[in-house]
Amino acid sequence: MKGIILAGGHGTRLYPITLAVSKQLLPVNDKPMIYYPLSVLMLANIREILVISTPEDLPNLARLLRDGSHLGLSITYARQDEPVGLADAFILGADHIGDDSVALVLGDNIFHGYSFYDILQENTADVDGCVLFGHPVSDPERYAIAEMDSLGRLVSIEEKPAHPRSNRAVVGLYLYDNDVIDIAKNVQPSARGELEITDVNRVYLERGKAKFVELGRGFAWLDAGTPDSILQASQYVHMLEGRQGVRIACIEEIALRMNYIDAEACYRLGEELLPSSYGRYVCALATEFGHAPQPAGTFS
Ligand code: TTP
Repeated sequence: MKGIILAGGHGTRLYPITLAVSKQLLPVNDKPMIYYPLSVLMLANIREILVISTPEDLPNLARLLRDGSHLGLSITYARQDEPVGLADAFILGADHIGDDSVALVLGDNIFHGYSFYDILQENTADVDGCVLFGHPVSDPERYAIAEMDSLGRLVSIEEKPAHPRSNRAVVGLYLYDNDVIDIAKNVQPSARGELEITDVNRVYLERGKAKFVELGRGFAWLDAGTPDSILQASQYVHMLEGRQGVRIACIEEIALRMNYIDAEACYRLGEELLPSSYGRYVCALATEFGHAPQPAGTFS
């Protein structure tokens, strides 16, 4: 399975912050926002990742994430000249996807919860159709909303409904089989002038091939698109990291734990980030995993 992070857009709800800076590079507590969606793909064992963004923001994203090889990944980049909609990801990403399946994650979505790794492993294996994930929200008018029947099967999806049929939002992580490229190419712009991902998902629904997975109440899903939600996301991460002494979405840690890199490589990545506490955390973790720090003045 290939991965795509959609990290463009204008970020108008964050103006004036995003007039000169990419939303996905803004801090969420101790790390850039894009680390969170990147860590989702890494946890799903997806190592070939395309980052899509604006011509202005791509150079900075590439400066941060490089070609991914330091994390045991392959990261490539594609430009989206105008934010014409989420479904454009599959048109811009057609070559990257090739004849594989694909996971799309939005660059401003943050996921955290118990057994997320298992949920990802279970649902990324052999995708036949699409897999959508749902999470309860208090303001369903702002989201794509899923309606389920009494057996929990998906019945309808409505984009920003005036009269929502449920409080289950379709969140910004989507898994598709290879048909998604052709489906996206045939989607017509909506009344808002966008290539809506909901229209892609409806095609799968009509074919009886849309699976819906509830992330449930114990799970945190945050859409960091406004000043309030970025602050809330930062507070959430800060609180958990402070209490538990672990980091959420530390991409070096995930690369190490997933065996994409070894403890030596991880230690070097941590060293590059010193003297920050993030860098110290990465170094300490690498040491725990077997890296033996060299005494000062020793060369090997
Ligand atoms: P949105 O939050 O819907 O759009 P935005 O980021 O432009 O923000 P605003 O509504 O404040 O203007 O986008 C969700 C994610 O998808 C976000 O990471 C940006 C990205 N995106 C693209 O990369 N290209 C697109 O064409 C669209 C619509 C969104």
